[in-house]
Amino acid sequence: MAGRLDGKVAVVTGGCSGIGLATVNRFVEEGARVLIGDIDDQRGHELVGQLGGAEFAAYAHVDVTSKEEVDALFATAKDTWGSVDIAFNNAGISPPDDDSILDTELEAWRRVQEVNLTSVYLCCKAALPYMLEQKSGSIINTASFVAVMGAATSQISYSASKGGVLSMSRELGVQFARDGIRVNALCPGPVNTPLLKELFAKDAERAARRLVHVPMGRFAEPEELANAVLFLASDESSFITASTFLVDGGISGAYVTPL
Ligand SMILES: NC(=O)c1ccc[n+]([C@@H]2O[C@H](COP(=O)([O-])OP(=O)(O)OC[C@H]3O[C@@H](n4cnc5c(N)ncnc54)[C@H](O)[C@@H]3O)[C@@H](O)[C@H]2O)c1
Repeated sequence: MAGRLDGKVAVVTGGCSGIGLATVNRFVEEGARVLIGDIDDQRGHELVGQLGGAEFAAYAHVDVTSKEEVDALFATAKDTWGSVDIAFNNAGISPPDDDSILDTELEAWRRVQEVNLTSVYLCCKAALPYMLEQKSGSIINTASFVAVMGAATSQISYSASKGGVLSMSRELGVQFARDGIRVNALCPGPVNTPLLKELFAKDAERAARRLVHVPMGRFAEPEELANAVLFLASDESSFITASTFLVDGGISGAYVTPL
């Protein structure tokens, strides 16, 4: 059976862990060749081996805050495999020193803006010229459900950065709609990552309080996000662009959740 991404070349940032890693696996399963960009070099090289080697995947060290490194990442995809069809701009951080605005210092604010928002600007700017030349492409930028809802337990720079990712994606989707390029913002709800598992183990009550807001009563698995990214990356979503693509177990639709 033909893969849903046969013949396509994808770049995935933050592909060594969590949502990015699950997506890399899904993309390769569906026939794409995937260039993983990350700062975790050891894991990146291991992954390429696990994915079947250089015919299917490659790894490049990239700090997504560096214009030179991001430009080199997309050039490598084009030089190695001849096109840039999919850009999943997903790398992001959520450090503990980004907290309430009252406690968050300028250095932490700026670091989060650079890694979460400036990176997406750099990746889109690098990918678009290849896609414009091809007259086709799908860009998926990872925002978050906090781009559309406020939380009293704030991570102020994180939320602001994801709001920026959402509106930048929407605007790019509109601008390039007639060039065959689609741009969508993936807005995940909380995902069952090592970080959340740690929280559950340490503070069950705090974790349970968070779950109260999720109609489905559980966090997402990374594979559930990867399936949404696969859909947005593939031609199956050919009429979807500039969208706020929420994959949040119903959080943003809920006023009261069932118990
Ligand atoms: N986990 C969640 O609950 C959740 C919810 C909503 C949105 N998101 C967003 O989804 C994306 C992925 O989150 P995750 O939970 O899979 O994260 P993760 O921490 O599991 O993986 C992030 C990856 O990004 C890489 N990375 C970090 N800084 C980088 C840099 N400067 N340059 C290149 N790579 C870098 C890390 O090495 C890692 O491999 C992020 O943008 C995050 O904000 C996550």
